[in-house]
Amino acid sequence: MSKGENILSEQLQQEINRRRTFAIISHPDAGKTTLTEKLLLYGGAIHLAGSIKSRKTQRHAVSDWMEIEKQRGISVTSSVLQFDYGGCRINILDTPGHQDFSEDTYRTLMAVDSAVMVLDAAKGVEAQTKKLFKVCKERRIPIFTFVNKLDRFGKAPIDLMDELENVLGIRSCPMNWPVGSDGRYRGVYDRQTKLVELFAADETHGQETRTSEKYALDAPELRAALDEETYQALLDDITLLDEAGESFDEEKIACGELTPMFFGSAMTNFGVQNFLEEYLRLAPPPAVRASSDGDIRPEDERFSAFVFKIQANMNPAHRDRLAFIRIVSGRFERNMSVWHAASDKVIKLAQPQQFLAQDRQIIDEAWPGDIVGLFDPGIFGIGDTLCDEAHKFRFADFPVFPPEKFARVQAKDTMKRKQFVKGVEQLTQEGAIQLFRQAGAGVESYIVGTVGTLQFDVLTYRLKSEYGVDLELVMQPFEVARWLTFPEGRPVTPESLRGADRGMFVYDREDRPVLLVNNEWALGWIKDNNPALELHPVPPDRREI
Ligand code: G4P
Repeated sequence: MSKGENILSEQLQQEINRRRTFAIISHPDAGKTTLTEKLLLYGGAIHLAGSIKSRKTQRHAVSDWMEIEKQRGISVTSSVLQFDYGGCRINILDTPGHQDFSEDTYRTLMAVDSAVMVLDAAKGVEAQTKKLFKVCKERRIPIFTFVNKLDRFGKAPIDLMDELENVLGIRSCPMNWPVGSDGRYRGVYDRQTKLVELFAADETHGQETRTSEKYALDAPELRAALDEETYQALLDDITLLDEAGESFDEEKIACGELTPMFFGSAMTNFGVQNFLEEYLRLAPPPAVRASSDGDIRPEDERFSAFVFKIQANMNPAHRDRLAFIRIVSGRFERNMSVWHAASDKVIKLAQPQQFLAQDRQIIDEAWPGDIVGLFDPGIFGIGDTLCDEAHKFRFADFPVFPPEKFARVQAKDTMKRKQFVKGVEQLTQEGAIQLFRQAGAGVESYIVGTVGTLQFDVLTYRLKSEYGVDLELVMQPFEVARWLTFPEGRPVTPESLRGADRGMFVYDREDRPVLLVNNEWALGWIKDNNPALELHPVPPDRREI
């Protein structure tokens, strides 16, 4: 190895070690946005909290890119935020909380190395928490739990631990413990350092970082600050946790059997810094990824990355389209040439960008774990591999989700057909919708499939705001789509199928035949009456999650 290579591998290793790439997952309203904002506040990336998602009067979230998000107050797209703290380089991938945006969320979770699950202390584990947890567990993403809103009355910490075990099937190991009584917590006890951190009263409604003092358990100042009952209760809790609780076990955390648990309140900055520091200490650096050529290790000096998200028109002033890549191995350099597996072409990566939400900056280099936005002239697809020309491979396929809601869409004004087609194609490439063409029908209307109904609102809204097209949308009664094949590649046509008219025979974008039917019963009929037919819930060459 030459001296130059030696230096690179040392730097590469250092950069990998200090990277933490994660997503924050939660049920809507548990406090994900507030916690993200507070992490940025502690990281010095913003100076007054409230600039990410301000209180209702000035609600213009930095992490909300799209108008629709502002209007609905939900986060539609996943944003990427990067900042430094305590020597670590942190990449937070924001995941939309709304259940209808599950596909985007799932894809985002393909690009992280760990996840923070935020729970509302009063509500515990909620519906969306369960779904997201399941995906993390399937993907073996280590999960850290932040119990939020401890400034208010909520469930007892012990009960929340039970709930995690009973509802999610994961045991927890508290890393800190609230001091005081429900709704009036005074601070947290850090089980690692064995210090109690007492917080000064919050005078700024969480806009600034919170001052605190740390005390040993037997410090007279602590005894003086807490009443006897609170102090004794804390000692009892600590003994109970030490004797009966799960101990920290990296292996169990890595395979989703155990979650380190933190208590705090994002809004009042209670326990946030403690959480951030412990999290950075414990969370894993960039992980290996499976590929057609075995596991790709981040330390491999040959660059590789995959596309996990495509987003158009993020900036209304520029009609640009960005492909977000997650770097898996090696060093990324501006203007480098890489092999694009999907097109089998060598391409140059010009003008790469990194993000603090709406603020983008051109970057010269990036490392494993980093997320980079590339200008996309229309060549990238979700799941695409980019790698060194001298070492060609493909990362394992991204999961595809079967669509369950369908609508016929067309432009109200036929003069706008061109813009309509462009907009619909664009959103299809972003993976927000799936596009079908009805057999025998003209191209003036499409059948659009989604995993949830909210995507139709997004489609309508974005076609209007970005392409000036008013959409006519007629919901279809179908709930099941099946890709159709016959053995030995015999073509499937509407005529070759008995009962094709019991549903709708359509073609996907790659001209593969698909049958849409109302329900499983109808599907059963088709199966019974076409014994040779093979039915696939997703395109036959893609795997299902
Ligand atoms: P989300 O991204 O998970 O959907 O949640 P978000 O941070 O938007 O928080 C949802 C609501 O919960 C917000 O109130 C927020 O201020 C509040 N919240 C977040 N963390 C805490 C906390 O630690 N304690 C308390 N008491 N509340 C918290 P909102 O009324 O919906 O909006 P806003 O007017 O405060 O913006």
